[in-house]
Amino acid sequence: MPLTSKSLPEYWDTYKPHKGDGAPSPPVVDSFEWTQYPGHGPGAGFLGQPRTALELGSAEGKEAVFLARMGVETTALDFSPAQTARARLWWEGTPGLSFVNAEACDHLADTSATFDAVFSRWGAVWFTDPEKLIPLIARRLNPGGVLALSQAEPIEGFYGPQAMYGNGLSGRRLPVLRWSYSTEMWEDLLKRSGFTGVEASVLPAPEPDNVGTLMVRARIPAAPAVPSVPKRRRR
Ligand SMILES: C[S@@+](CC[C@H](N)C(=O)[O-])C[C@H]1O[C@@H](n2cnc3c(N)ncnc32)[C@H](O)[C@@H]1O
Repeated sequence: MPLTSKSLPEYWDTYKPHKGDGAPSPPVVDSFEWTQYPGHGPGAGFLGQPRTALELGSAEGKEAVFLARMGVETTALDFSPAQTARARLWWEGTPGLSFVNAEACDHLADTSATFDAVFSRWGAVWFTDPEKLIPLIARRLNPGGVLALSQAEPIEGFYGPQAMYGNGLSGRRLPVLRWSYSTEMWEDLLKRSGFTGVEASVLPAPEPDNVGTLMVRARIPAAPAVPSVPKRRRR
C-alpha cells in the first residue's frame, strides 16, 4: 500500500463537521488563534506586518478571514474539496480573500505568486514531508518574508513521520502521516532551505501538564541593499 497524499483530501473532508439541519452558519471570527487553547498564544502579530499571505491547510478559513479583514491580501489553500467549498460558502466575497483548492506542494511548485508571509496553523506543514514542502515555501516568499507555523508539540524521542489509520482500525486502509520534529531539528531544516532568524519553541499549555504548542517562525533574508553609485565629480 503506497503512502501517497492522493487519497487524503477525502479524509479531511469530514474535519470539523457541522451538525444540525440546514446550512451551517459561519463561526465568529474575532481572533487569530495559533494554539489549541482559545486566547492563548501570540495572535496575528506573530506574522509581522505582511501585505500578502498564504495559508497552507486553511480548512474553514477563520485565520485567513481574520487577516483579510485586517487588510492583508490573503490566499486560503486547502486540498480538501469539502473544506474549500464550505469556506467559500461562508467567506466568498470577503475583500482581499481568495481560495485555492490544491495540494500545497503541487500549488507552490506551479504558482509564480510570491508572498510576504506563508503560514500553517495545524495545517499542511504538519501533514506534509517538510523536506519537500519547506524548500518550495522558501521559493515563494518575498525577500524578508516570514514562514510561521504551529502544531502539537512533539513527543520527546518520537520524531519524523508519525502514521495512523485515518479510517480507524476496522475501516478501509487510509494511512495519514504527521511530521513531528524537535525544535533543534526544525532549526536545522529551515536553515538548510535558506531561512534565517529561526525561532522554534514549545509554548506551554495554560495547564502545564497539558499538551503544548510547537511554534516556529523564520525569515527569508531581505534583499541586500543596492549599493549607491557615487556621483561623478564635475571637472
Ligand atoms: C488539522 S486541519 C487544520 C485546519 C485549520 N488550519 C485549523 O486550524 O482549523 C489540517 C488541514 O490541512 C489540510 N491539508 C493537509 N495536508 C495538506 C496538503 N498537503 N495540501 C493542502 N492542504 C492540506 C487538510 O485538508 C485540513 O483542512
